[in-house]
Amino acid sequence: MMHPTIGIIGLGTMGLGIAQVFAQASFPTIATDAHAPARDSARTRMEQALTARVSAGKLNPEARDATLNNLHIAESLTDFAACSLIIEAIVERADAKQALFAELEAIIPATTILATNTSSIPVATIAATAQTPDRILALHFFNPPTAMKLVELAPHAGTAQHHINIARQLTETAGKTVIQCPDRPGFIVNRCARPYYGEALALLSEGHKAAEIDAAMMAAGYRLGPFALIDLIGADINLAATQGMSAAMQKHPRYHVFPILAAQVASGDLGRKTGRGFIYPAETTPAPNP
Ligand code: NAI
Repeated sequence: MMHPTIGIIGLGTMGLGIAQVFAQASFPTIATDAHAPARDSARTRMEQALTARVSAGKLNPEARDATLNNLHIAESLTDFAACSLIIEAIVERADAKQALFAELEAIIPATTILATNTSSIPVATIAATAQTPDRILALHFFNPPTAMKLVELAPHAGTAQHHINIARQLTETAGKTVIQCPDRPGFIVNRCARPYYGEALALLSEGHKAAEIDAAMMAAGYRLGPFALIDLIGADINLAATQGMSAAMQKHPRYHVFPILAAQVASGDLGRKTGRGFIYPAETTPAPNP
């Protein structure tokens, strides 16, 4: 049976990866971006990502070609009328997300689910200005969406249960593990992760060594230590996420922005992407996700 059509809006870091997740799982996938170069380069960027997997022996060339065949880059939002689920991964601003959903509501049928990939904006805020808020929810993918199994599904108080069920079913069919979360800042993972990083940064500030803290946490059963994780994700991304959580939680001390993290970002040693981080490139640093 033919899968329903999925729409993706915003073809940056997250949107392109989310589009690949659905296209690779045989969903007809329509995607666009407000920025013409992002639209024009999207197919080539996805092809490069898929070809790298073919070269690594993780994907066969037929699957790559089928994935690219499932991808349609649209020039206008009118093409999204055929979608059963639309996921936005545009700029992290409530007014921009509200305006996009208002524009879409004028085009799509009332049954189309509108999902946001927001990291920090309450879903209720995004839904507040919508005409049909019962079909709005968050589907929060993790970076990189192709490798990370988890998707946090966060409805707001007015989301209809059948839309929650359909969003879950479609996302699971695309191969993801879906966990329902409260519409609270940071959902589950970012909420729990901030204090994990925070205590490690507190220990570092007190003079303990980053490598020792990581070694202890890994020997205790954590897959990656806090500093290996910061180096993998990027200290700048980690700082921005912590600042976002701190603001959203009224500067609660659990989400304290440690000066030692801000100093690390200011130094430019952001982790893997700059070749140097808290512990990277130490030999003990584990390999990134496949
Ligand atoms: P990005 O900056 O890489 O990509 C955003 C894209 O959206 C850009 O290509 C931009 O041209 C486009 N865009 C902006 N406004 C638009 C509009 N009104 N209509 C259509 N396209 C528009 O951003 P990224 O990192 O992919 O983040 C996207 C969303 O995903 C944000 O809400 C962010 O908070 C969330 N997120 C980001 C994660 C990350 O690790 N980068 C992880 C999980 C969620």
